[in-house]
Amino acid sequence: MEVSAAIRQRRSIRKFQPQDVPRSVLTEILEDARWSPSWGNTQPWSLCVLTGKTLARFKEMNLQQTLAGEPTASDVPMLEKWPDAMKARYGDLGKLVLSAQGIARDDKAGREQYYKEMVRIFDAPCLILACIARDNRVEYQMLDVGILAQSICLAAWDRGLGTCLLAAAARYPAEIRKIAAVPDDQKIVVGIALGYPDPASPINTFARPRASLDEFVRWMD
Ligand SMILES: Cc1cc2nc3c(=O)[nH]c(=O)nc-3n(C[C@H](O)[C@H](O)[C@H](O)COP(=O)(O)O)c2cc1C
Repeated sequence: MEVSAAIRQRRSIRKFQPQDVPRSVLTEILEDARWSPSWGNTQPWSLCVLTGKTLARFKEMNLQQTLAGEPTASDVPMLEKWPDAMKARYGDLGKLVLSAQGIARDDKAGREQYYKEMVRIFDAPCLILACIARDNRVEYQMLDVGILAQSICLAAWDRGLGTCLLAAAARYPAEIRKIAAVPDDQKIVVGIALGYPDPASPINTFARPRASLDEFVRWMD
């Protein structure tokens, strides 16, 4: 697949087919992704690949913590107040995701059900936790691990696999550490749900908006 096509066609996949992803395919994806650039080639990331029983425990933990109303305690704090333009886009995404599934705005039960599916990692057969060391150059490390994450998503897409980056998979680091043995000196930045996409599901096919270049590029000749 052309790189340009992969970048444009990759999209977040929120409904997966049940079959597992072979370890050999996961390895190929990660072998590609390890060639991602990083500040000073520091490669500050580490990954934890969850499948099988470990992933099942993770999904149950994330669901139960959410249902119990446990406050999120992410290693990467969430912005309390988003700038207006970003808040509007975030709101639009929520509407798109729900309306694609025929969930009306006032359908509280439908919204809650969807939310449960999200915290259960959309029942993907694999979850990759992307981590960085706790150290001073955090902003560059965040950039580096973000590039790695995009490489994983593109390498997966190239092989017919879908992904969804999930902040919702990194909300309870203390509990995650018990299940996935992530060392204390690593920050858990984001999860990447991964599996074979369900091609028929409208949640995987709705049109996604993007700002035009005019909105975010200044040309300085
Ligand atoms: C850091 C990060 C965290 C994200 N967390 C979530 C999440 O918790 N739940 C979710 O459904 N999507 C999540 N996403 C996916 C975004 O909503 C998605 O990338 C965005 O809407 C653009 O759509 P696209 O990926 O289909 O192009 C996350 C994306 C990023 C980059």
